[in-house]
Amino acid sequence: MTALQDPTLGPIVVSEAELRRRVAELGDAITADYAGRAPLLVGVLKGACVFLSDLARAIALPLEIDFMAVASYGSSTRTSGVVRIVKDLDLDLTDRHVIVVEDIVDSGLTLTYLRRNLAARGPASLAVCALLVKEGLQTVDPDLAYEGFRIPADFVVGYGLDVAERYRNLPYICTYRPDGRPAQ
Ligand code: IMP
Ligand code: MG
Repeated sequence: MTALQDPTLGPIVVSEAELRRRVAELGDAITADYAGRAPLLVGVLKGACVFLSDLARAIALPLEIDFMAVASYGSSTRTSGVVRIVKDLDLDLTDRHVIVVEDIVDSGLTLTYLRRNLAARGPASLAVCALLVKEGLQTVDPDLAYEGFRIPADFVVGYGLDVAERYRNLPYICTYRPDGRPAQ
């Protein structure tokens, strides 16, 4: 399945090569910043699973991985801001250097909720690494220690990102057009 064969998939926004290069850079930055420490990567399921898998292998430090699943009430392409924990972490965050790994920051509401929730668990430090940030949509500063790409505010799929659970396996990120016509 490629963007050429599926009319609901639009132009590529971030290519496979760009993803590979940027993930390596983020891994190098985290390796330098956390030297001498063993960070705990907290992946936000399901969207961050592909990014986290690549990012973890780009970090040359002892590290641990845990996952959390959240769901936001609302339609499939809009966040309501009301977030519910579907799967909580297995590990205790007390005195840990936590790096939250997110797929995309859209309104920033999911992240605001997560940050507050995780900060209350007593980590030694808490930073956020987001692969994508949609431009101009956050009402509060998402305060990202690491960010991959700033992208226009179109809905995108691929590299972990879905629409109704599909397209997570695309190796690149492209726009999604539900009606199969070019975005206006
Ligand atoms: P926020 O709370 O509005 O920042 O939305 C964050 C969550 O909504 C992300 O973790 C994604 O799961 C989902 N999301 C936001 N924008 C997109 C998109 O363009 N494609 C796929 N999922 C998205
Ligand atoms: Mg999602």
